[in-house]
Amino acid sequence: MSFFSTRTAAPETGRTMAPTADDDRGGPGAPPPARPLAQPRGDQRHPLPDKPIPIIDCENVDIYYGKFRAVSDVTMVFGRNEITALIGPSGCGKSTVLRSLNRMNDLIPEARVTGRISYHEQDIYGSDVDPIEVRRRIGMVFQKPNPFPKSIYANVAYGPKVVGMDVKNMDDIVEEALTRAALWDEVKDKLKQSAYGLSGGQQQRLCIARTIAVQPEVILMDEPCSALDPIATARIEDLMDELSQEYTIIIVTHNMQQAARVADRTAFFTARPSEDTGDRTGQLVEYDITRKMFSNPGDKRTEDYISGRFG
Ligand SMILES: Nc1ncnc2c1ncn2[C@@H]1O[C@H](COP(=O)(O)OP(=O)(O)O)[C@@H](O)[C@H]1O
Ligand SMILES: [Mg+2]
Repeated sequence: MSFFSTRTAAPETGRTMAPTADDDRGGPGAPPPARPLAQPRGDQRHPLPDKPIPIIDCENVDIYYGKFRAVSDVTMVFGRNEITALIGPSGCGKSTVLRSLNRMNDLIPEARVTGRISYHEQDIYGSDVDPIEVRRRIGMVFQKPNPFPKSIYANVAYGPKVVGMDVKNMDDIVEEALTRAALWDEVKDKLKQSAYGLSGGQQQRLCIARTIAVQPEVILMDEPCSALDPIATARIEDLMDELSQEYTIIIVTHNMQQAARVADRTAFFTARPSEDTGDRTGQLVEYDITRKMFSNPGDKRTEDYISGRFG
């Protein structure tokens, strides 16, 4: 069975979706309460399974640019409906790994992935797999908000049109995506205006709406807040928290407090010169529940990094 032809319903994850007695959000429409700066999300949100329930599975993944091996031997499982953060010093391969998860690296000349990356157990690099469909199911939001030079409405409607979704009422699709991206109230009266008139934070939420509009299951985010001010950043972090009820989110961040605030699990990468080639090749050092990573890391290199001793 192919997972790249039709959208499957979000599978059961065991996470509580309905509000519960200890849900502290204060009901529909109420803004989420301010969070302390670095209280790990896993502590306040929900019990995490010991092991992630797989949605994307990397086995012995190496990624090359030409002859240069940028990343070596990554084996890890990304959990369904979890937020996973990838952290590590600049150049350790976080973006390279992230882009490999939805075949965005295909667009870079010379990039090559070996090993196996599967989504719902299907090899996304398999010969019968359409990369466009992979990117629809596993969407991506970039560092710098990159709306098209079109209206707010057209930015959101673009994806469903291009991928040929069976759309009965585009207005509904646009409204729903903008609502989910927590932008609807701010733009509903100016949908025909240029997206460039929005603030940076609004543009980034528009890009998230654009990604959501094609009904992905996974959203990859590469430093989505690094071009935003602290208030816009907090807004996106709250939004990620909300979106994680329905989507799986994998975020690259250079901001460790952000990883601590938003991520259920955190993976720490570093780069070291490889013995055979001398290349500075990225590797996965440690991957665990965020709280554990930040309070009691198992590897000295993780500890040095999170305590600011290098990186
Ligand atoms: N398009 C590319 N072509 C060649 N080398 C690249 C390309 N993108 C990244 N690299 C190299 O791959 C390594 C990992 O880069 P990157 O994934 O961007 O790291 P990070 O996101 O952790 O900062 C670096 O050595 C970088 O120079
Ligand atoms: Mg990067």
